[in-house]
Amino acid sequence: MIILGLETSCDETGIAVYNSFNGIISEYTYTQQIHSQYGGTVPELASKDHFKKILKLILFTLKSKKLVFTDLTCIAYTSGPGLKNALLIGVTFGKIIAFSLNIPSIGVNHLKSHIIIALLFNKLFDFPILVLFLSGAHSFLLEMINFDEFFILGKTLDDSIGEVFDKISRSLKMVPSNGKMIEKFSKKKFRFINKHYPKQYNNTHDFSFSGIKSAVIRDISSSVILYNDICNISYNLQNTLIKIVFNKCFNLLSSGKYKYFILSGGVSANKELRLLFKNYSYLFNLKFFTQPIKYCTDNGAMIAFLGFIRINNNFFDKNFNIIIKPNLYI
Ligand code: KG4
Ligand code: ZN
Repeated sequence: MIILGLETSCDETGIAVYNSFNGIISEYTYTQQIHSQYGGTVPELASKDHFKKILKLILFTLKSKKLVFTDLTCIAYTSGPGLKNALLIGVTFGKIIAFSLNIPSIGVNHLKSHIIIALLFNKLFDFPILVLFLSGAHSFLLEMINFDEFFILGKTLDDSIGEVFDKISRSLKMVPSNGKMIEKFSKKKFRFINKHYPKQYNNTHDFSFSGIKSAVIRDISSSVILYNDICNISYNLQNTLIKIVFNKCFNLLSSGKYKYFILSGGVSANKELRLLFKNYSYLFNLKFFTQPIKYCTDNGAMIAFLGFIRINNNFFDKNFNIIIKPNLYI
């Protein structure tokens, strides 16, 4: 099977081709730049930009590996969750291409695809798998029962962790404003500030990130911020967020119930986070699975790969109705 994956749920136009023998054979991810002058992703601009670029990007991704449309045997696209009009672009183009080639198409869950891409690089596993999923919009601790079923062990009660990285990065006037920039500045820290940020008082596996977000924003807006401060704040924020997440996972990692652990979602691109969980997985005898950094944030490869798994199990969209699911859950 040769599957074209289309990802347009937010501000990345991700295109990839997955071949069931050779894996990902071609890919391109375009990150929209137009939002940097606004406070966040502007949905209308996102969908316009997807519309403007998607066909050119598909053609480029195919041509760069000397592929043509008729090589494709299936199209997979993100059907949700995500921005309504942004999803519409991927679904519509996916359906039109599938219709004209007379091949099947399949809509896939963006959240599940983030997790399942880790299994493309780690093929020896069994269920259940303990999953820590940290993205821009969601934060979950999950038990993966099979490719389709996830049991929620914990979730964020307020903001997602990615949202905190993004908001603080924006308050520090970083361009682009994201966790990758916080990570970059945290490497240049000059001193450790021993700040007492809000503690996590609940005894469940649910996270709460809004307290630390507000506390750091308050600190930033109440003082003059110089370059050194940006580095120190970044370092402290990253450390504190990682500590919160790690403490919430500790008893699950050490429980002996799980043999496999997946770290996924955009925030899993953070090297400190990856190292900590890799080391503790080793310590507690769990096989640590994650994906290469380029597949942590939104991309077409994860959509093509989950599309392959779904089609392989005989799931596909039997009609050409354009259906999007902006509020789809895990
Ligand atoms: O999974 P993703 O691409 O989008 C959603 O589906 O939400 O995640 C994007 C999130 C953003 O919040 C971004 O700041 C964060 O992932 N991120 C990082 C890093 N790279 C991306 N957070 C911390 N450290 C990084 N290196
Ligand atoms: Zn995502």
